[in-house]
Amino acid sequence: MTTTLTTGLARLADPASRANPYPLLRELREASPFTDSASGIVVVGRRADCETVLRSPRVGSNRLGAGITKVPQQPNLMNLDAPDHTRLRRLAGKAFKPRVVERWRPRVEAVVRELLTDIAASGAGGVDMVSAFAYPLPVRVICDMLGVPREDHQIFEKWAHFIAYTVDPQLVPGELTTEVEAGVEEARAEFIDYFSRLIAQRKRAPRADVLSELIAAEEGGDQLDERELILTCILLLVAGHETTANLILNGVLGLLRHPDQLRLLRERPQLAEAAVEEVLRYDAPTQMITRIAREPFVLNDLQVAAGQPLLLLLAAANRDPRHHHDPERFDITRGDPGHLGFAAGPHFCLGSVLARMEGAIALRAFAQAFAEPRLDEASLHYRPHVAVRGPDRLRLTFEEVRLDSLPAAGRTREREAADD
Ligand code: HEM
Repeated sequence: MTTTLTTGLARLADPASRANPYPLLRELREASPFTDSASGIVVVGRRADCETVLRSPRVGSNRLGAGITKVPQQPNLMNLDAPDHTRLRRLAGKAFKPRVVERWRPRVEAVVRELLTDIAASGAGGVDMVSAFAYPLPVRVICDMLGVPREDHQIFEKWAHFIAYTVDPQLVPGELTTEVEAGVEEARAEFIDYFSRLIAQRKRAPRADVLSELIAAEEGGDQLDERELILTCILLLVAGHETTANLILNGVLGLLRHPDQLRLLRERPQLAEAAVEEVLRYDAPTQMITRIAREPFVLNDLQVAAGQPLLLLLAAANRDPRHHHDPERFDITRGDPGHLGFAAGPHFCLGSVLARMEGAIALRAFAQAFAEPRLDEASLHYRPHVAVRGPDRLRLTFEEVRLDSLPAAGRTREREAADD
């Protein structure tokens, strides 16, 4: 059966939907799967259908030249299928194994403390959590991991903002301005130039960072070549930056809007990991991803043709009542089956361990350190991207920042010792 609807996708692209896309996502999920008549995109919103597509060998991730994103993508991990994907993932994955990521815990805790110290020192009683906390944290961490020097961190934020458009689906033809297109091209060229130089330096003198590990990663005589290294670095920086910042911001917002949950986290800081899972489900930083049908197949009675693009509404699937009990409720103690915030199948987020660690440390510190935090609703403003959802302004007021409530550095060492 072929179901074609004209509803929804253009409205999803409308900036007016950014503040609360969930009523629309619900409509789309309940109507799905269907083919959007304007774009030809197959819209998939139910949890079970998303999972089927993510794990199906008939569906691929190679979107190069498919015109499904606002700007063309590059042949990185995210856009390749087996066997190229398997090979790259095995090599790049070495730097993101849980034991390797755990070594960065003290650094993440130290950055959180630095940022909160600056906020406390400003003595302002109010702060923009985007620029003072959520963005600098993952940027400093991923730049440190890649070995990018401190003085270069800020330029990366600007470039990463433009590169984020490369994962935004083209919901309405011709949506992008030439100014943004030019920004993306410039950012790409600057990234390539920057990493070529950094890679050459690390080849001459390796250090204890992820870039040196990627250069050294080897299996059966196989290594990442120069171009693969550069594209992997760009992907890591972008994938590990906007998304994690948005996880923290969507979490801060969820907690501020649900004071009972904030109180719970303050009283029981060990709930921080569960709080992260709930944010990834309730207000997913990656709202949707795309795929391409490699062969014809039938999805829940809908005929999908070879070559047809698919839009998987992960954020809608995460609130599917067929899978999650009382899905519209934000509840950091919920222990129900997992979300699709990191997708599933062969492209499951490579940085999930790092993202979970950063998110938990940040949300725990937020709950513990801020006395009487209050959201300034009028300040809340969202980024223009559709796929990567999060605010670009979120001001809150507070009475004080209690640095003595944060875990002491020694706690990390004890924990590491316990883990070893
Ligand atoms: C809360 C934060 C994050 C979220 C919500 C998130 C979400 C996702 C999602 C949904 C995918 C699947 C994309 C697709 O299949 O099209 C993905 C893939 C990926 N993520 Fe993340 N991510 C986060 C943080 C990170 C971090 C910190 C890193 C690394 C530093 C990272 C690196 C990657 C990479 C390399 C891929 C591609 C994996 C592959 O194609 O095999 N992500 N992420």
